[in-house]
This record gives sequence, C-alpha cells and structure tokens, in this order.
Amino acid sequence: MSVTREDILKALSRVIDPGQGKDLVAADMVRAPVFENGTARFILEVDPARGREMGPVLQAAEAAVGALPGVEKVQGVLTAHGPAAAPAARAPAPGGGAPQGGAPNLKIGRHPQPQASRKIAGVDKILAVGSGKGGVGKSTVSVNLAVALAQAGKRVGLLDADIHGPSQARMLGLTERPRSDGDTIIPLHAHGLTAMSIGLMLPEDEAVIWRGPMLMGALQQMMNQVRWGELDVLVVDLPPGTGDVALSLCQKAEVTGALIVSTPQDVALLDAKKAVAMFRKLETPVLGLIENMSVFVCPHCGQPSHIFGHDGAKAEAKRLGLPFLGEIPLHLDIRVSGDAGAPIVSAAPDAPQSKAFRDLAAKLIENGVV
Ligand SMILES: Nc1ncnc2c1ncn2[C@@H]1O[C@H](COP(=O)(O)OP(=O)(O)OP(=O)(O)O)[C@@H](O)[C@H]1O
Ligand SMILES: [Mg+2]
Repeated sequence: MSVTREDILKALSRVIDPGQGKDLVAADMVRAPVFENGTARFILEVDPARGREMGPVLQAAEAAVGALPGVEKVQGVLTAHGPAAAPAARAPAPGGGAPQGGAPNLKIGRHPQPQASRKIAGVDKILAVGSGKGGVGKSTVSVNLAVALAQAGKRVGLLDADIHGPSQARMLGLTERPRSDGDTIIPLHAHGLTAMSIGLMLPEDEAVIWRGPMLMGALQQMMNQVRWGELDVLVVDLPPGTGDVALSLCQKAEVTGALIVSTPQDVALLDAKKAVAMFRKLETPVLGLIENMSVFVCPHCGQPSHIFGHDGAKAEAKRLGLPFLGEIPLHLDIRVSGDAGAPIVSAAPDAPQSKAFRDLAAKLIENGVV
C-alpha cells in the first residue's frame, strides 16, 4: 500500500507541539516527508533551545505516522534551525488529500532559511557521491575523484559522511585525530586534499548508536564547524542507501549536484535508480551515473572480463535521461592502494586505472561543474 506525503503530513497535523500550542504542520516544523519501501521519513525542525523537550513530541509524531496503514517503519529526525520563517505551512485539508488550492506549502529540499545559510563558508561547490547499494565503490570513487580534481589544480576538500562505516581515514592513510581550537575543528591534509571524517571524531573502541538528532548534529558540525578554508569543491562521500545523511545534507547544504555510483549488474542499478529518485525528490541535481567495476582486465593474460556485466549503467543513465560520466575498471591495484592509504590516482597517477578517474575529473571541469 502506498503512502503519500500528504498522508504523512495529515498524520503529523494531528500531533500538537505543546510549546507552541499548534500542530506540527501548522507550526511549520515538518520537512521532507517521504515514503519509500515501507519506511516513512520526516524531519522536525525545532528551535535549538527546545531540543531536549522535543523528544516526546518526536515520539508522538513517529507514533502518529507509524499508525498509517502501509507504514512498516518510521524514521523521524529532530534538527535545529535558525529563526523561524513566515509564512507557516498550511495543514492539509481535513478529510484527506492535499490542501485545497494547489500543492502544500512544504517543498522537499527547500529550506525556510535564507539561501546564504545553506552555504558552507569558503566552499564554492559541493558534490555528493551516493549510491543506492553498499559496497559499489562510492568511497573509492570519491577519494580518487577528489585527488584527480586536486591534481587538475582545484582546491578540494573531502568529507566522509558515512557515519556507520567511515572509510576515508584509512583510504587516505590518516591516523591522526583532528584538533579543535575551541570553536572550530581543524581538518587534516593528505594527498593534496583537505579532509575530514566523522570516523575521526568518534571514540575509537566505543560502539556509537546514532540517534537522529546526534546524526544531524554531527553532520552539521562537519559542515559548519570544520575550518575548510577556501575550497573550489567539497566532495562528500555518503553512506549507502537513501537515508537520513543524504536527506539532511541536501537539506542543510546547497549541494551543487549528486554523482551516482553503480556497478553494472541489474540489482545494483535498481538501487541506483532509487538514489536518483531520492536526489530528484530533494531537488538536488543529479549530474550523472558512474559505472564502477566495469571491466576486469586479467593481470596475467590481459583478457578483459565483464564480471558484473557491462554497460548497464550507461543504459540506465539513458533510460533515466542522465549523463553517463564514465566507467572505472575493476583492478586489483585500486583496491590495494585504497587499503594502503594512498589512492591509486595519487600513488600511480599515470597508470591506466587512474586515467578513468582523471577523465571523470576532466569531464566535470569541462562541463563547468567544478
Ligand atoms: N574499481 C575497483 N577496483 C577494485 N576494487 C575496488 C574498485 N572499487 C572499489 N573497490 C574495492 O571494493 C571495496 C568497496 O569499495 P568502497 O568502500 O569504495 O565502496 P562503498 O560503496 O563506499 O562501500 P560502502 O557502501 O560500504 O560505503 C573496497 O575494498 C574497494 O577497495
Ligand atoms: Mg563507503
């Protein structure tokens, strides 16, 4: 059974914020209500000063949305905002359906705050690297693309936003912890990049269970408290799937565009399609698809094999009306160099397997994206 965003809004319009004496929709607190694969997601934007007291309101909101027929799972997230903006969103019309007189006054991906607040200080462009599926090579593509852009003369930052499985510290060979001067976090530098990973901020041997508000806070900190300096582009390595991190990144920051990484086989492409749909819903431009692990060239006999199929992402890009940005070969050196903390483009810039990443960087520069 499909649940619409109006259904979610309607459920949330039955929950009262006791602090304001208004329902959550009328109080203009609801952002990005989406429903996908049985899961309903939404963000409640709250006054930071009231963060603590909002826990029960979030619980009530999750219960209200969870009671909708067809909803198997609910993910509500609290996030802090600046001064409230007028006008408030209208509650959905009683009796169901969208409010009368056109679309509801809530736009996914649009913030009521002034545009300027969605900029990261000093950062010109933000590229998000995502995929629907895990393990398809987002981190590998992010780091090598970032290094290739830096080699092409750009000032590049890399943000590892994979809260659950951060891998950029290892891929960049970083062991040091970032320092803080009290107000700001000083990022690290490696392979020509300014880099920051949520993984570097966590206690090493402590299991961290991320609740929505913590996750938002950590991401917000990575964006606004890190002293990124002047950057032409910040590459953001996202966790797999279509979860809260991608959602809040696109909400909180003005993302220039998303790059979707997929392997060529159907099952990965199916998930890539979901990622594309998510970015489109969030009104983040999708810049194109990248096919990773495209062809395997046997190091012994030189015979090319298409282990995961071939051209699947190219065909899917065409179907989705998106640019196809290139294919990255499956090569042992790419994996080995990543594990060793020196991305292939940095370790062997002239190797044929680095060329694919450099071509990708050149294409983005040529198209004026970066
Ligand atoms: N083109 C490639 N050739 C060889 N190995 C690769 C290639 N791309 C990625 N790998 C390897 O595959 C594994 C998964 O890649 P990576 O961590 O980049 O994927 P991911 O999509 O970021 O994963 P996750 O979803 O867990 O964040 C890594 O060990 C990486 O070194
Ligand atoms: Mg990764």
